[in-house]
Amino acid sequence: MKIDVIGLGYVGLVASACLAEEGHNVTGYDTNTKKLKSISSGDIPFYEPNLNELVKLAIQKQTFELKKIDKYENLFADAIIIAVGTPLSNMGTLDISQIQVAIKWIISNYQNLPFIIIKSTVPPGTGEKLISQYPELANKYISNPEFLREGQAISDWKNPDRIISGSKNLEGNKCIEKIYENYTAPFVHSDITSSEMIKFASNAFLANKISFINEIANLCDKLGAYVDDVSKGIGLDPRIGPNYLIPGVGYGGSCFPKDVQSLSDLSMTHLQSFDLLQSIITTNQKQQLMPYFYLSEKFDNLQGLKVCVLGLSFKAGTDDIRESSSINLINQLSNSGVIINTYDPVSINNSKKVLPETVNFFDDPFDAINGVQATIIMTEWSEFQNLDWKKVYKSMKNPKIIFDGKNYLNQKLIQDLGFEYFAVGRKIKSQK
Ligand code: UGA
Repeated sequence: MKIDVIGLGYVGLVASACLAEEGHNVTGYDTNTKKLKSISSGDIPFYEPNLNELVKLAIQKQTFELKKIDKYENLFADAIIIAVGTPLSNMGTLDISQIQVAIKWIISNYQNLPFIIIKSTVPPGTGEKLISQYPELANKYISNPEFLREGQAISDWKNPDRIISGSKNLEGNKCIEKIYENYTAPFVHSDITSSEMIKFASNAFLANKISFINEIANLCDKLGAYVDDVSKGIGLDPRIGPNYLIPGVGYGGSCFPKDVQSLSDLSMTHLQSFDLLQSIITTNQKQQLMPYFYLSEKFDNLQGLKVCVLGLSFKAGTDDIRESSSINLINQLSNSGVIINTYDPVSINNSKKVLPETVNFFDDPFDAINGVQATIIMTEWSEFQNLDWKKVYKSMKNPKIIFDGKNYLNQKLIQDLGFEYFAVGRKIKSQK
């Protein structure tokens, strides 16, 4: 099929490269000339494992070409994917103006209106609103939300759990079935608003699982229970499932925080108070600052305390620092006068743009750890798990605290070396 993709950010570029690899003829459009040049020369502007190689290959094989959004006459495509950003506006709602600009551009540049597939995340009800604004879209509009995770987007694309399409007619569903004809995942066809709701409800539910296990972990700390065993025990019930039950310093990223907030706001606009969503958010805000609360209890005064924060991105496998727990924590510690050294394998450049100038960045974790009294792990990079902990012990100063914000270090090994170990819901000494 001839598929055009508008918006070559994270979702658009992954979709373009994967569809091109599957044999479709893909043209990617974007407004940003610098970004287009950099992608064409094989240098994608963000870190996503294996994406660079896939994009380069598709360009070489000429199944993927890049074009600037401009004025064209009589463009043709079987389907157009819109994958532009929908950031939070100053009003706290999702800003869909980039989608509106893309739709206007499509209407004035394509000879016959192709199917328009919306992959951008939009609040439920958006599609119907857009159709009332542009009635010619009615039979062409398809909501087809994405469930890709940063850091594993390509394997998520290739192995979807389900393919959702929301449209007003059978033709829309058929178009989606044709694009994904080689996939074995079940299709769920619905109306447009339900499809949009599936995306928001999925993210909110996962965020709910995380906040829930975090509160259970906090209670485990009070009672002397071990949250890893609790997670395992409840996750084996197939009605609950084992995923998204790892406690720690809360969730971050460009999706969960924004989508949970947006669903809560949407609910309020319809005069329905969805209290659960607000609790998920409040728990997460508290959880992101757990190491700060711990240090504040431990020391009378944080002024001048030397701390190393390992990990800046909101999770491993990405250089994305949006709503990262680590960035929020560093800001809080820094406001309290803590001296901060930090290291991350890929996110230092992004972080330098947003963190206070007083933060010390290092290219080597051991340089960052040298002479600090506490080391806090905020991102689950495997590199940190495999550090030479004996060496770490020698280079830290008393009281040699390790705060494992991801509950993923070998607790017994760390405690046997003599560190003061703290995590979330792992207060008792591990016997394993
Ligand atoms: C999330 C969803 O998982 C994707 O399905 C969705 O497509 C995407 O948002 C989106 O809406 O675009 P992503 O933000 O890349 O994907 O990150 P996740 O891997 O889901 O992790 C989100 C946060 O939850 C991270 O900060 C992670 O550290 C945290 N997390 C995850 C936990 O604290 N505990 C867990 O057990 C799992």
